[in-house]
Amino acid sequence: MRSVTWIEDLARRADAVLPDYVSAYYHSNAGDGSCDREGIADWNAFRMRPSVLRDASAQSTATEVLGTPVAAPVLVAPMAQQVGARPEGEVLTARGAAKAGTLLGVSTNTGARFADIAAEGAPWWYQVYVARNRDATRILVERAAAAEAKALILTVDTTPLGREVPAIDPRNWPAGPRKNRTANLTEAELDRFGSDTDMALDLTPDTIGWLADVSGLPVLCKGVLTARDARRCVDAGAEGIIVSTHGGRRLGTSVTSAFALPEILAEVGSEVEVHVDSGIRGGAQAAAAIALGAKAVHVGRPVMWGLAADGADGVATVLGNYQAELVTTLRQLGIGSIRDLGPADVVARGAARV
Ligand SMILES: Cc1cc2nc3c(=O)[nH]c(=O)nc-3n(C[C@H](O)[C@H](O)[C@H](O)COP(=O)(O)O)c2cc1C
Repeated sequence: MRSVTWIEDLARRADAVLPDYVSAYYHSNAGDGSCDREGIADWNAFRMRPSVLRDASAQSTATEVLGTPVAAPVLVAPMAQQVGARPEGEVLTARGAAKAGTLLGVSTNTGARFADIAAEGAPWWYQVYVARNRDATRILVERAAAAEAKALILTVDTTPLGREVPAIDPRNWPAGPRKNRTANLTEAELDRFGSDTDMALDLTPDTIGWLADVSGLPVLCKGVLTARDARRCVDAGAEGIIVSTHGGRRLGTSVTSAFALPEILAEVGSEVEVHVDSGIRGGAQAAAAIALGAKAVHVGRPVMWGLAADGADGVATVLGNYQAELVTTLRQLGIGSIRDLGPADVVARGAARV
């Protein structure tokens, strides 16, 4: 339970410095919270199969995600409202990711400007919530591409939000950072588009090709939980799938990402990169996901808590801890390179399946 403990400690330190409404938003999830809790438990239900008498004198976690080299396949998930943790928001997250040699997702609802995030030197992917007015999205995507985003993450689990608990009183937000506004449209543009920057709820697979055309970038679909949807995304041109329950924040009764990953890998894993997030609370759990066949894992709340507690250094420390645990796991498995980690190294226990 060591990996859980250091993250829980970090969350407590973050909560101590954050206004209540911000820490409540970062902790919030859907329904009764069971998808979030069980999502964490399901990752802990995998067990690794150590192998002895193999040369374990050196380990490498280096790999590539959609052609971009990273020090380890542990990436930062896109999260809104990082300016609530620190006024510089994603600029510090990018600095921490750069120190850790990895890549970050940048939310549509970022309060930091693309150029300032990009200047930190970490590769980044732009997460798209398609707006009701597609021109607003087109402008944002073009600006992200111009600021050298390397891919788009199209978040597809956008159907009406699962109830977030504990409840957030929206009256609190005007006192803090503005909720759900991007710093990458001008005030004039925000006034012009008005509530049409709200999330569109009428997306179809055609959106994938449209975004690829507008940006010239590969598109990953985030929030896929079934093989049949993964197939629809890949057939429509997605170059990656991110298996995710949005950290248990969408459908409170949905399957967990650990449960969904194997069927999605079986359906599209030989054609595109499959990534996974939601409830991965350490390098050991990341190792299980990668052994199953995921190309990378994305980390959400622990990074946000690191940002709130210790700024860019906190982000780098969180990512470094995941990387160190990954190295330890590889060493115990007798594996030299993360590229050699595979299904033979992991078994399911309890509700999880391989
Ligand atoms: C505070 C917060 C804000 C988030 N904002 C977004 C967002 O703007 N876009 C998005 O696609 N996902 C968003 N997510 C979901 C994360 O990208 C990711 O799927 C999730 O946090 C992973 O689960 P974990 O927190 O258990 O690691 C958010 C998550 C949190 C905790």
